[in-house]
Amino acid sequence: MMYWFIGILLCFFLLFLSSFSVWNVYAIIRGAPFVPSTNKRVGTMIDLANLQKTDVLLDLGSGDGRILRRVAPFVKEARGIEINPSLAVWSRMINMFVKEKNIQVLCSDFWHQDLSDVDIIFVYCIDNKMNKLETKVKKEMKPGSRVVSNEFKFSNWKPGQEQDGVRLYLV
Ligand SMILES: C[S@@+](CC[C@H](N)C(=O)[O-])C[C@H]1O[C@@H](n2cnc3c(N)ncnc32)[C@H](O)[C@@H]1O
Repeated sequence: MMYWFIGILLCFFLLFLSSFSVWNVYAIIRGAPFVPSTNKRVGTMIDLANLQKTDVLLDLGSGDGRILRRVAPFVKEARGIEINPSLAVWSRMINMFVKEKNIQVLCSDFWHQDLSDVDIIFVYCIDNKMNKLETKVKKEMKPGSRVVSNEFKFSNWKPGQEQDGVRLYLV
C-alpha cells in the first residue's frame, strides 16, 4: 500500500518536473527563464516602489509568486502573469495559505496583456527583451505609473532612481 502511495507521489513529481522544464524553455524564448528574485532584491524593489494602498501592481512573469505575496499587504491588487503553467499552479496553491485575498495569478503570455489599468510593474526579464518591453510600457501604461526592474535596464530610458541593481522608471 505504502509503495503505491510513494509511486503515485513520484509520478506526480516527475510529471510536474517535465512540464516545468518544457515550459521553462518556452519562457526563455518569450521572456526569461525562472530565476527567482532574492529576498534582499525584493526588499529593494519594494523600497524603491513606494507602494500605495490604491496601487494595482503587476509582476510580469510572476514565477512562484513570491513577490506577489510580499507586496500584497501594501497594495490594492497584486497581480501576476506567468507563462509557465506549472509555476502558475504552484503559486496559486501557495497563495491559498496566505491571509491576503488580493492576489491573482493569470497563466498567460505578458506580451498579449494590456497594461493600461496597471499602476506599477515589477519585472525581472532578460536583457534582449528590454527594448521590446520599453516600447510596450511607453505605449500602454498611463502617465504617472511606474516600472521597477530587477537587474536589467531599459537602454533608452533614464531611471528615476537606482539602488543595488534595481531601477525605478517613471512613465
Ligand atoms: C526571472 S523569472 C522572475 C520570477 C519572479 N518575478 C521573481 O522575480 O521572483 C522570470 C519569469 O517570467 C516568466 N516568463 C517569461 N516570459 C514570460 C512571458 N512572455 N509571459 C509571462 N511570463 C513569462 C518565466 O516563466 C519566469 O517565471
